[in-house]
Amino acid sequence: MSSFYVDASIKETQSQKAPFASKFSIKEVFSEIIFHDEKMYALLEAVEKIAPSSGPVLILGETGTGKELVARAIHAHSGRAGKKMIPINCSAIPENILEAELFGYEKGAFTGADTKKLGILDSLHGGTLFLDEIADMPFNLQAKLLRVLQEKKYMPLGSRVEKEMDVRFVAATNKSLEEEVKMGRFRADLYYRLNVFPLYVPSLRERKKDILLLLNFFLKLFQEKNKVQLEIKEEVKEFFFRYSWPGNVRELSNLVERVCLLKGEGLISEEDLPEEIKKEMTSTKKQKNSFNIEESYLYKEKEFPREGFELDSHLEEISHFYMKEALKITGNNKKEAAKLLGLNRTTLMERIKKKTEQNKW
Ligand SMILES: Nc1ncnc2c1ncn2[C@@H]1O[C@H](COP(=O)(O)OP(=O)(O)OP(=O)(O)O)[C@@H](O)[C@H]1O
Ligand SMILES: [Mg+2]
Repeated sequence: MSSFYVDASIKETQSQKAPFASKFSIKEVFSEIIFHDEKMYALLEAVEKIAPSSGPVLILGETGTGKELVARAIHAHSGRAGKKMIPINCSAIPENILEAELFGYEKGAFTGADTKKLGILDSLHGGTLFLDEIADMPFNLQAKLLRVLQEKKYMPLGSRVEKEMDVRFVAATNKSLEEEVKMGRFRADLYYRLNVFPLYVPSLRERKKDILLLLNFFLKLFQEKNKVQLEIKEEVKEFFFRYSWPGNVRELSNLVERVCLLKGEGLISEEDLPEEIKKEMTSTKKQKNSFNIEESYLYKEKEFPREGFELDSHLEEISHFYMKEALKITGNNKKEAAKLLGLNRTTLMERIKKKTEQNKW
């Protein structure tokens, strides 16, 4: 049997990290994950809580959001950290090969099975199996996986003897499993079994705060890697901030690497950005300010307080919110924050001063 597919999609990792120590802050503990947004804090707090358990975890989120990174964090901060984590891409491996690789097989189990072979579940004893693209797992195999999850036992192909296993399952998908269940492509029982600890990795659009942080991180990374020296124009940062990033962090990282390689040195300007970004920016230019309003601050028709409200103090609250956000995003750089807000630096300073004097900052 050819092992081409498996070689192409299985990478082994062996983490040496010590198990999670709660005295560290979330940021220090998950130092390999760059984030600032509260949604990511909440996600990693959940990771911290569930990592030590052995229960299955389901990681949901758009493509490129960092699902595999989160899976690695779960493994690294669990008691299994000294053992292996093996990722398998369920959509890339044909059913029969996937089954044989997972469970192993006896000699003569199928044509070409010349010798007995141990499965991944054997070699992973005490470790973690990361089932990526779980929505694409072949339907028949889903029933077998369910059994393994429930009984903690499995049977190699061609064998009649059950084996015990101690493997933690972490699955991920960018599809809606609920929808897949409705469409009859994913088993409802397996979905419920996996959905005990669902974790949602937000898209970059949902955590705009992280965009500039990640941009700076990747700029530094690829400058060092490619030994180039680059700076980025402020207007270009705005493009990064406003673009919708359908490919999320991976798209951002690829783009920064591409620009670093192509540009080599100097100041990154609008012309250095790919067409898709420029096109989207031009078409949304007119709606420049629409993204600015945090949903919770908007009184929609239904929520409009019938007793009325103080418009000015409400607007002041919004303004306060965005000043703080801009300072957070720019690492407390008043000049950059003012630029993001379309204010003079002095105006921003005055507003901060006023708020501070009123003890309202
Ligand atoms: N918060 C982050 N900090 C640093 N790097 C990140 C972060 N999120 C994602 N990355 C990097 O972005 C790339 C994509 O992440 P990852 O492979 O984990 O995404 P994914 O959600 O599994 O994507 P897909 O659905 O396409 O499989 C990786 O190189 C990862 O290291
Ligand atoms: Mg992935």
